[in-house]
Amino acid sequence: MQRTLSIIKPDAVGRNLSGAILKMIQDAGLTVKAMKLIRMTKEQAEGFYAVHKARPFFADLCCFMCSGPVVVSVLEGEGAVTRYRDLMGATNPANAAEGTIRKQYALDIEKNSVHGSDAPETAAVEIAYFFSQLEIVG
Ligand code: RTP
Ligand code: MG
Repeated sequence: MQRTLSIIKPDAVGRNLSGAILKMIQDAGLTVKAMKLIRMTKEQAEGFYAVHKARPFFADLCCFMCSGPVVVSVLEGEGAVTRYRDLMGATNPANAAEGTIRKQYALDIEKNSVHGSDAPETAAVEIAYFFSQLEIVG
């Protein structure tokens, strides 16, 4: 069993798509082990995406991520990291495959509706960024 961190981004929460996206996640066989609706501060968004600090899109990305509420959740399943990345689709929705969340809902390369951890090690760090042990249902 593996866990990954999911964020339903402000563009999707703002269009009332949280339920539809969670349905796609659950239909794919991933189980929600923790979940909350939060609005990040700029500092929290910068901390979360610190790995992208040097990238030209960093400031815009952090501004977008704290522009409205997000739904953060911990997903569990066999191979959850890769399975959720596959379900999300390519970063740029123009390149996302049919049946993926980003193909269906993303607006552009930045407002791309969902985040998913890219490796088990990053998943552990990202889960701990938002959830305490007590908030994750065993
Ligand atoms: P994420 O981390 O959100 O799951 O997305 P990802 O792995 O598919 O893509 P990543 O390279 O980690 O980029 C993080 C987020 O930054 C925004 N972005 N904007 N304007 C641009 O060229 C650009 N490139 C990336 C997207 O919101 C992307 O998901
Ligand atoms: Mg990424």
